[in-house]
Amino acid sequence: MENQIQQHIEAVTALLNKALPQIEVSDSLSQLDDIRVTYLGKKGALTQIAAAMKGLSNEDRPRLGQAMNEFKAAFSQAFDSKKSELEHRALNQQLASEALDISLPGRQMPMGTRHIITQTMEEIEDLFIGMGYQVIEGPEVEMDHYNFEMMNLPKSHPARDMQDTFYIDPETLMRTHTSPVQARVMEQHDFTKGPLKMISPGKVFRRDNDDATHSHQFHQIEGLVVDKHITMADLKGTLEVFAQALFGQERAIRLRPSYFPFTEPSVEVDVSCFKCGGDGCNVCKQTGWIEILGAGMVHPNVLEMAGIDSTVYSGFAFGMGPDRVAMLKYNVDDIRHFYQNDLRFLTQFKGGQN
Ligand code: DAH
Repeated sequence: MENQIQQHIEAVTALLNKALPQIEVSDSLSQLDDIRVTYLGKKGALTQIAAAMKGLSNEDRPRLGQAMNEFKAAFSQAFDSKKSELEHRALNQQLASEALDISLPGRQMPMGTRHIITQTMEEIEDLFIGMGYQVIEGPEVEMDHYNFEMMNLPKSHPARDMQDTFYIDPETLMRTHTSPVQARVMEQHDFTKGPLKMISPGKVFRRDNDDATHSHQFHQIEGLVVDKHITMADLKGTLEVFAQALFGQERAIRLRPSYFPFTEPSVEVDVSCFKCGGDGCNVCKQTGWIEILGAGMVHPNVLEMAGIDSTVYSGFAFGMGPDRVAMLKYNVDDIRHFYQNDLRFLTQFKGGQN
């Protein structure tokens, strides 16, 4: 009997001596778990020895029990420490593979730029806002009534041919200029609250074939001042400030007689060439002057049609093309560049970067 228990206990010890080195060299958590199953699983080596318990005497049973407990304690200790070592290693490997290099520079997000026409319009708007003008927008789809009739261009007027028009129906059209906003604003203005000073920026449309200097859609900024005692001198002074702010303090302007149905007298306004200073060059076509806008004193008919007494009030008006201003300022030789959305062109004008 003594022999038999001794054999069992030795078998447990031998098992432990075999198990511990296996634990020690195991290289992965799954391998470690296989070892646990081999010894302690349902059909494991220790479980098989335990089956012998049944045949043992009451004194021997606790001795084998104790040996088995010792096995389990030693096994668990080795198992747990190996397990935590392997877990630690796995964690470190995971951390290393997922590591973020926070010293890497971030990816640059491509930043858009504001369109050069938008920038030019805002520059002009800011200038006039600074001089006390309101900015008022009008509709792009306009009535013939405002676009032409209220601008002193009745249906039969030959000057309607100056602006080839996209008609939607006989009374509705794509506005050919921003001048109709003048009529809309004058109709509404209450002079007991002060003089009328406004600019109106926006898109305009003409049935033109697109080429280097024409586009079927472009921009205008209309200007209008109406009050008592407004004179041509006010117009000239205002436009001089405008020309100098946009093209440089040394610029001079000159007014040339011209014709617009909605102004009398009418003028075309030139600015002295900002490239050659007036000596003559390719930008000013050797004349020393560059035409920048049309203007004049608001025609009495236009005032009267809008309900303003032309014997009491007078006004000046001007209309300029921001596309042309931008072409001159930035030396752009083809108006179509503005509308082709080629980023190589547009991103040159970083001034509008947010
Ligand atoms: N509306 C004119 C055009 O489209 C420009 C213009 C000229 C506007 C003289 C004005 C002005 O207000 O007084 O060509």
